[in-house]
Amino acid sequence: MILLIDFGSQTTHLIARRIRELGVDCKIVAPSDVLDIIGMDSRLRGNDKGIDGIILSGGPAAVFEKQSPTIDSEIFKLGIPVLGICYGQQLMCHLLGGEVVAGHKREYGPAVVRSKIKDQRSKLLEGIPEEFTAWMSHGDQVIKTPEGFSTYGTTKTIPHAIIADEKRKFYGIQFHPEVVHTEFGEQLLKNFLEICGIEIAKQEINEEFVENLIKDIKDSVGEEKAVCALSGGVDSSVAALLVHKAIGKNLTSVYVDSGLMREGETETLREVFRNKYKMSVDITDAKQEFLKALENVVDPEQKRKAIGKTFIEAFDGVAKKINAKFLIQGTIYPDVIESAGSKHSQKIKSHHNVGGLPEDMNLALVEPLRNFYKDEVRKIGKILGLPDEIIERQPFPGPALAVRIIGEVTEEKLRILRGADKIVLEEIEKADLGKKLWQFFAVFTGIKTTGVRGDQRFYGETIAIRAIEATDAMSASFARLPYELLDKISTRIVNEVPEVNRVVYDITNKPPATMEWE
Ligand code: XMP
Repeated sequence: MILLIDFGSQTTHLIARRIRELGVDCKIVAPSDVLDIIGMDSRLRGNDKGIDGIILSGGPAAVFEKQSPTIDSEIFKLGIPVLGICYGQQLMCHLLGGEVVAGHKREYGPAVVRSKIKDQRSKLLEGIPEEFTAWMSHGDQVIKTPEGFSTYGTTKTIPHAIIADEKRKFYGIQFHPEVVHTEFGEQLLKNFLEICGIEIAKQEINEEFVENLIKDIKDSVGEEKAVCALSGGVDSSVAALLVHKAIGKNLTSVYVDSGLMREGETETLREVFRNKYKMSVDITDAKQEFLKALENVVDPEQKRKAIGKTFIEAFDGVAKKINAKFLIQGTIYPDVIESAGSKHSQKIKSHHNVGGLPEDMNLALVEPLRNFYKDEVRKIGKILGLPDEIIERQPFPGPALAVRIIGEVTEEKLRILRGADKIVLEEIEKADLGKKLWQFFAVFTGIKTTGVRGDQRFYGETIAIRAIEATDAMSASFARLPYELLDKISTRIVNEVPEVNRVVYDITNKPPATMEWE
């Protein structure tokens, strides 16, 4: 088993996931709980507690600041291999006598790592080329390694991107191997597991796994009635079908028509779930309630809270009618972590599934997908037999178009955005690029600019296009869409949506930008 100490990185759970994907158990613990788990006595080897290796995660703090999370340096006396990632590397250096300083610049995104120094290679780099691209997300950096350590990798800006004390089996890396954009990241983690003496056997999400999930839901809901929030997106659709398989007609799926959805969404949903799966779907029209709740709301977090509240109220109504005890939601793992689900992580956005729930909600929450990432949810959906038109659908945020309209949400802005968004979707699908992208959509920026139409000055709206590539929600790069396609989209939008006179393309990666604009 690997003990993963969580210093609050947004990607801590991604590290755990990668380790588990390699068939190895991984336990995430808060820094303050480590010694309780391992035992205070350094003569007691960690292996006696079944711990083969320790990973120190990244985190948003700076090691040289007083309040920063830390660990007892006893853990370095246990004879257990340690891998420090980003903040974890810096903390290891700090505690073992090295030096960490604040970098001149924060660095986010790709960097080339050169990993052959004076012909030396670390065991951590077995099977990895001498040069590879790694994903960075940091401000501080190590400038002096502790005694016993050598440097095995550098980048243009970081002198100690990979360090190791091979004798004590301590390793530190400044980049994030858990993020898919880091080349050979899985190989690096595999090498660390081998250094820990662990044999690797991959575990799969298969039919048996899904049967067990269904059984768990059956056990927790029993003979009670449940309502499920169905939005038509991948997550809630998979959650609804899982629960439908578990409890059959005791589940009522409620689709709250918030009026914030994309073109044609409600109709597709009705067709698939009612007609194909014969599920009972209650379509509740709450368009006016949502618009009212969003009146004069500009702040993105306030929007999410207002939407969460209106949504639950609409829900509670239906739940009361059918006397439901449970509320099923399609919350997935990134929603949890980005709503600051772990002790030292920072709040990025309150995803309405998590952060916006009113405390006096009268329903017990069941979230069968809470521990999964999007691609895993898709795998589960495929096993359940959901059609591709739902499984391959791009992710769509719970607060829907409200977080793609900067400023107050109004009916008119929604109409303009829907018109532009439809064109983005159509053209990207026509170019056969849909499957390659994580998400592609239009954003109502709220910026008015000057244009010219038929010799007349025209002051109109600006629409931004966002198209991104990713395999999970934690990191992404903007898609290099062909100029011809961008040209076609832009021309169509300004011609077909008369209020718009300017279209811009968002060329920012995540991090530092998030995928959605709000
Ligand atoms: P961000 O914008 O945080 O998005 O990089 C990551 C993924 O999550 C989706 N997203 C949300 N999903 N409620 C949701 O259910 C939300 O409030 C929310 N905000 C973002 C987003 O579409 C992307 O796929």
